[in-house]
Amino acid sequence: MECHQLLYESIATTSMTLEDVINMLEKCNQQNYEIRLSGLLVFHNHRFMQLLEGSKSSVDFIMQKIRKDTRHSNLKILHESESMERSMGAWAMAFTMNTSNVEALSAYPFFLSITDAREITGTMKRELSQHFTRFLAI
Ligand SMILES: Cc1cc2nc3c(=O)[nH]c(=O)nc-3n(C[C@H](O)[C@H](O)[C@H](O)COP(=O)(O)O)c2cc1C
Repeated sequence: MECHQLLYESIATTSMTLEDVINMLEKCNQQNYEIRLSGLLVFHNHRFMQLLEGSKSSVDFIMQKIRKDTRHSNLKILHESESMERSMGAWAMAFTMNTSNVEALSAYPFFLSITDAREITGTMKRELSQHFTRFLAI
């Protein structure tokens, strides 16, 4: 089924603790699941890159909230289009970051290792994968 895909990048404004990140992701996963959104959030070097996919109305609804969120700024849309299929269909909001504290995160169902994230994003369409490749070249 066709879906709307949106990719953006932003700069973190606060230094979030691992606990803050986990709390935020639990909420994201619950809300996204409820409105059938899927996606991937990467946090690296005080920057976020996020892919959101689902119906146009669900993507717009969450983007309105995300745009107002003061935990980041300088939000730039990198890509937006319709797609024949989802790239992250199995994940309400997968999350990956370059951290030495992977142990603490790996217990959560939303956590994706950098290696797996590179593999998955490598199979996405070029307009998306090129951005993730740059971002994940850690
Ligand atoms: C980088 C970033 C990505 C986010 N992604 C999502 C998301 O995918 N889904 C979501 O529900 N909230 C996401 N949020 C949180 C929203 O900005 C907002 O805090 C949350 O949806 C609040 O929900 P409420 O208005 O129902 O309290 C994100 C926040 C940040 C800083």
